[in-house]
Amino acid sequence: MPPTNNDRSLVIVANRLPVQRVRRGTTSTWQTSLGGLVAALHPLLRKHGGSWVGWPGGEGGSSRAFRHDGMDIKPVTLSASQIEGFYEGFSNGTLWPLYHDVLRTPRFRRSWWRSYVEVNQKFADAIEPLVGPGSMVWIHDYHLQLVPKMLRQRRADLRIGFFLHIPFPAPELFARMPWRTEVLKGLLASDVIGFQTRAVAQNFLRASRRLTRATGSGCTLRLDDHTIRVQPFPIAIDIEEFETLANAESAGERTRSLRAKFGPKRKLVLGVDRLDYTKGIDVRLRAIEEVLRRGEFSARDMCFVQIAVPSRENVDDYASLRREVEQAVGRINGEYAEPGQVAVHYLHRRLSREDLVAYYMAADVMMVTPLRDGMNLIAKEYAASRIDGTGVLLLSEFAGAANELRQAVLVNPFDIDGMAKAVQTALTMPPAEQRRRMRSLRNAVHSYDLYDWAARFLGALRGDQDA
Ligand code: G6P
Repeated sequence: MPPTNNDRSLVIVANRLPVQRVRRGTTSTWQTSLGGLVAALHPLLRKHGGSWVGWPGGEGGSSRAFRHDGMDIKPVTLSASQIEGFYEGFSNGTLWPLYHDVLRTPRFRRSWWRSYVEVNQKFADAIEPLVGPGSMVWIHDYHLQLVPKMLRQRRADLRIGFFLHIPFPAPELFARMPWRTEVLKGLLASDVIGFQTRAVAQNFLRASRRLTRATGSGCTLRLDDHTIRVQPFPIAIDIEEFETLANAESAGERTRSLRAKFGPKRKLVLGVDRLDYTKGIDVRLRAIEEVLRRGEFSARDMCFVQIAVPSRENVDDYASLRREVEQAVGRINGEYAEPGQVAVHYLHRRLSREDLVAYYMAADVMMVTPLRDGMNLIAKEYAASRIDGTGVLLLSEFAGAANELRQAVLVNPFDIDGMAKAVQTALTMPPAEQRRRMRSLRNAVHSYDLYDWAARFLGALRGDQDA
């Protein structure tokens, strides 16, 4: 159920707005975006009022506030050089690789940092006129870590919450960043700082004590007379949405049609990710190649389908990953495809929710094998969509979701042989064991949903001790 927000007004701040501009012929309109965060917070804003501050995407545009679908929307527009310096540069060329355990080399460019400071200030400037006395401001993710302090300096009365959707690295890695103290102090002006798991919350607590004057034990820090609650709030999905989609008659038809297209007798192994180097798409392909090389399974028995959603295409590391993945798909098919039976299907596109659920329902095995991931909601979505109680989830130990989904087949994505073995185990798992494991995965996913997650965070922000 959507949560309640009691009396305080709420401002949500995230790099992305919850709406997108869509073109229809010669005109364009705003459309509410799909996706977890919007699903959780939209009902809340619609019911209690409140604003959402964010970047509408693209360069320039109007920064005039407007109302859409029951929400007050305040766009923060970016210039071409801010997109390059703040978004592609510092957010996705410095922080993203650094926070994901340096899977790619973070670049510490001073001009990107200056752009990050400038855009964070732009966000703080946009928020301030929207907040009444004592309002709650909930800031999301790594793009906006300086905003809590920028707001606090002007408005001591606000309740400021920050939630990091991605991991926070070990202090030894975080300490490499030249602007580490500024970032920590930016965050420590919040009242509540939420993380996906206890382990990354611990990383943050250790970094704060080591690199600033913050003191404290457990999940409370103190810095200059200000108290900060630091706590895990693992994010969840809208279970009802996935179950409704899975139970729809059309879902059954779509699933049957997919199975018929891929070959009803072949086992279907699926991967669904943003095309991002943290997701382990390349190592997953190597594991599939290894399974085929060993010869117990051929393209007549199984096929692997990778849905890769285009992402951050102007960032070099993403462009080179795309080339690597596409080469690997070509190489594997060249070696192992049979006439009329492709070994690896690669779809470089975004799917509708309905199609996505049909793929989940059609997949005998789901591979969620990130090298590092804050949570990974695809794993939870797969379990929620398996209303027939079967299917096998292969899940990386390095995804936050592995803390909760203990009955998945847990894998180390850095170990290709281990992954290949796990794929073989999954392909031959007896239905009774599939059911036993899937029951436990579905129970875990059912234990709380996205609305409970938002309610818990906002409860903590209001000061409830038991949230
Ligand atoms: C991750 C981040 C989000 C981000 C999303 C899509 O999930 O945690 O903050 O919005 O990726 O990436 P993009 O760069 O397209 O916003």
